[in-house]
Amino acid sequence: MSDAIKKQIRDLLITHNAVLLAHNYMRDEVQEIADITGDSLALSIEASKTAADVIVFCGVHFMAESAAILSPDKKVLLPRADAGCPMADMVTPGELEALRAKHPGIPVVTYVNSSAEVKAHSDICCTSANALTVVRSLKEDELIFVPDRNLGRWIAQFVPEKKFVFWEGFCPTHERMTLAAVEQKKLEHPDALFICHPESAPEVTALADYVCSTSGMYDYCRTSPAKKFIVGTEAGILYKLRLDSPDKEFVLASPALFCPNMKLTSLEDILLSLQTLAPVVRVPEDIRLRAKSSLDRMLAIPRD
Ligand code: 13P
Ligand code: SF4
Repeated sequence: MSDAIKKQIRDLLITHNAVLLAHNYMRDEVQEIADITGDSLALSIEASKTAADVIVFCGVHFMAESAAILSPDKKVLLPRADAGCPMADMVTPGELEALRAKHPGIPVVTYVNSSAEVKAHSDICCTSANALTVVRSLKEDELIFVPDRNLGRWIAQFVPEKKFVFWEGFCPTHERMTLAAVEQKKLEHPDALFICHPESAPEVTALADYVCSTSGMYDYCRTSPAKKFIVGTEAGILYKLRLDSPDKEFVLASPALFCPNMKLTSLEDILLSLQTLAPVVRVPEDIRLRAKSSLDRMLAIPRD
């Protein structure tokens, strides 16, 4: 049954000259049929340069919005319109403007896990893969960082010369990974390295051997001589980690590392989306242009 659906999806992708992008947290079967999987940065770059007419974005709403911002002449489909990101909803344009008013003249660095409108009220975007490079690229020695307090505080320690104003947003999935759960896993697997995402709480990142974006984890585990890893990010990452390094062992740091939004999209949803060419994600042109300038400024910075 699932093989038949996969074939129908692949056929419709050809019919519509469509490309299927999937975030590293998607269900295994969705990652398996995707043309491209990646972290937020890789998928933004792909969305900005693809020659396809249609982008089927298997991820959450802000990611599809970024694709629509970067590729206005393409149809961007988000198979599950209800796949959102609670962190992205934690700051509104009004709240950001109120914060700006309190700190006039200070640039706003906005994590891509944010709405198009918030990006439109920002100076530059960043992802977890390039946040430090983005912050270092700014000439100002003060900045506002929204919405992720954990990513902000993680990178702030590497640029002590800069003063940060943090927004207290967070990823509920990563914050459910408690210090006690990680300590327990480290006791059970003393021979394993612990890697985690910078959206994790500071007491958890403090225990990590390596902190990086989801794609950074693939590179690290593939090239590391270590054979066992405790993985501190959303469970979907395990699919490709195990595929890339079948001789290595990967243990999820906490059973709470499931993002309900990232798990919504099924093969049936993708098929229906390609059959109906809906739901389409659109961004009003005035917001799109301003959000694009924040994303373009980020994309102009060379990758680390
Ligand atoms: P990255 O894949 O960019 O590390 O993003 C993590 C995330 O939480 C996306 O929602
Ligand atoms: Fe948002 Fe966290 Fe889910 Fe990513 S994992 S979509 S940041 S809630």
